[in-house]
Amino acid sequence: MDADLPELCTRSRATDGQTPDLPYPSGWFCLAHSRELARGSVLTRQLAGEDVVLYRTGDGQSYAVHPYCPHLGAHLGVGGTIEGQNLVCPFHRFAFAPDGSCVGTPKGPHPRARLKHRTVRERNGFVIVWYGHDDTPPAWEIPDTSPPEVTVTATWATDVHAHVQELAENGLDYRHLPAVHHVDVRQLVPPQAQGPYLRSHLRLGPNRPTALKKIRYDVSFLLAGLGYVRAEIPVPPLGCILHLWAVHAPTGPRLTRLLLGVACTDIQRTRPAGRTPLLRPVHRALARAVLWTAVSKAKDDVRIWNAKRYEPRPRLAAGDEAIGFYRHWARQFYPTP
Ligand code: FES
Ligand SMILES: [Fe+2]
Repeated sequence: MDADLPELCTRSRATDGQTPDLPYPSGWFCLAHSRELARGSVLTRQLAGEDVVLYRTGDGQSYAVHPYCPHLGAHLGVGGTIEGQNLVCPFHRFAFAPDGSCVGTPKGPHPRARLKHRTVRERNGFVIVWYGHDDTPPAWEIPDTSPPEVTVTATWATDVHAHVQELAENGLDYRHLPAVHHVDVRQLVPPQAQGPYLRSHLRLGPNRPTALKKIRYDVSFLLAGLGYVRAEIPVPPLGCILHLWAVHAPTGPRLTRLLLGVACTDIQRTRPAGRTPLLRPVHRALARAVLWTAVSKAKDDVRIWNAKRYEPRPRLAAGDEAIGFYRHWARQFYPTP
C-alpha cells in the first residue's frame, strides 16, 4: 500500500541558501518490492535524479537498465514490453537480450547496439539497485543476514523531502526516541562499524504508563550503506522473530523514497518448549499490525524531516555520540573532494 504525501510534505522546505546540499551517496537502494515487479512487467523508478527501468523476464529474473533506447532514444519504461527473455522497445520494436545486446528487429538485421545495465539484487522481497559515482560497479554487497526465505509481507511507502542520509541517521539519534516516539531507549552496546556496515543493539520499550509498560524489546539494527536499515526483534513469548526494514532511495535533490517492510517468522529456538509454531496467516497478521505501529511512528519522523534542514556542523550534546559516529562512518559513501 502506498501512502499519499502527508500535508506537510507538499510545502517546500525553507532553506537559508547557505546550507550546502549533500551529494548523492553511492550504495544499494531499493526501487521496488518484488511483488510490484511481476513476470513480464516493466516499471520506471527514479534514482539519483535519473529514471531507471526495471523489468522481469519470463524466467523470473529482474533487471534494471538506463531508460533510453540506443536506436532513437525512446523511453523503454513507456510502453516497453517483455517477450520471453527480451525487453522490446515500444518505438520500432527492437529487442534487447538480458545481457543488453540488441538481438532482433521486426524487419532486417539488428544493429550493434547495447542497453546500459545497472546491477540489481533481490533480497527478502526487495528489488535493490546499485548506484555508483561515475557508474562505478558495486564495491560491496547487501549482506544476506536475514535468511533468503524470509520475505517481506507488509509494506508502506512515502516520499520524504529530506536527504537519504538524514533518514538513516534516525536509528542512531537516541534522543529523539522518547521525544518523538514516546519510547525509552537503552544502548546495549555502542554502535560498531565494519566497512559499509554499521550495527547497533538497543533495548526499547514504551515510556508512557500503559498496560504494556514493562515490555522491553532487544533490537539488532544493521545499516548497509545509507539506503538499507534492517531491524530484527525476537519475541520469545510468541516464539517468533519480527524483521523490519526501512529502505530508502534518493530519488532527487533532497527527495527520498522511503519503504517500510515487515516480515514475521517462527524460529524454533525462540519458541517456548511445548508451544506449537504460529501459523503463516498469524505471521502475516502480526506483520501487518507491526507495520501499522511502525508507520504511525514513521509519520512522526516524516513531519520533522519534511520541515528540517541538514545541519553539516551540528552542535551535538552529551548522549549524541552515536550521531557523530554515524556521520563519520557515512563519509565513505561520498566522492572524495
Ligand atoms: S527507438 Fe527503440 S527501437 Fe527505435
Ligand atoms: Fe524516528
